[in-house]
Amino acid sequence: MEAIYVLGVKGGIGKTTFSLYFAKRLSLMGKNVMYIDHDYFSFGSLILGHNDLGLLEEIERNLPIFSRSLKNIDNLYVLKLFSNPLNINKNYSLLSNKIQQVLNSILKREVDYIILDSSVGILPDNDIVMALLEELEIEKEGVFLSDMLSVNSTIKYAKLWENNIKYKVLVINMVPPIPENLSEAIKIANEVYNNYNELFNAAIVVQFDEKMYNYNPIIAEYENEKLNSILLSILYRYNTLK
Ligand SMILES: Nc1ncnc2c1ncn2[C@@H]1O[C@H](COP(=O)(O)OP(=O)(O)O)[C@@H](O)[C@H]1O
Ligand SMILES: [Mg+2]
Repeated sequence: MEAIYVLGVKGGIGKTTFSLYFAKRLSLMGKNVMYIDHDYFSFGSLILGHNDLGLLEEIERNLPIFSRSLKNIDNLYVLKLFSNPLNINKNYSLLSNKIQQVLNSILKREVDYIILDSSVGILPDNDIVMALLEELEIEKEGVFLSDMLSVNSTIKYAKLWENNIKYKVLVINMVPPIPENLSEAIKIANEVYNNYNELFNAAIVVQFDEKMYNYNPIIAEYENEKLNSILLSILYRYNTLK
């Protein structure tokens, strides 16, 4: 089992889109995938049609854990963590042991890949859920998403993950409203790759793609060459990307 963390310091830069895409592709490749929605507003779950409670609210209401937060949708396990953003700072640590045991057993039995769709600027010990994932002792890869404005912050952010994530890819995603200055973006990606080769194993630019806008893996069969190559680079540890 491995985990791909999709991370970034900004909202609206493609974390959910990429996470859903990777989850869907891996699933089509025959892998058992768990999509973990760590967005406080559960946007990815919503896209997949998971409108039920999140794990932390199950705990808070004393409901059986994973009875409502974990669903099987379109051949994916979808685990929603938050359904009430106001609860995110509550301390659930007393219950962590039990959750961890159950989560561990589900993952060990049935899951090849975890895709973590994270909230902005999440850190390995940000909250109880991240701490639980850290304790699972699985190999982790990180896709660090950035737009052209947030590259420097993304580099700093990736450094905070240096010891927790083995293989890291920097992605400059050309999301709106950034002007489509592709050659500039490619230049920046190359510079980052050359100057931070200890930190990032690969760096790549993903262009704005009309078909990716409002991507929903259940509704649309859609493939993007760049996203495929990011995924393959993770699976096979390629260090250079086109
Ligand atoms: N490369 C891209 N081309 C076109 N649209 C994109 C691209 N990347 C992201 N988007 C769109 O940008 C918006 C924000 O993406 P989202 O994945 O929700 O970001 P985040 O999870 O980081 O907040 C969505 O509407 C998404 O479809
Ligand atoms: Mg998101």
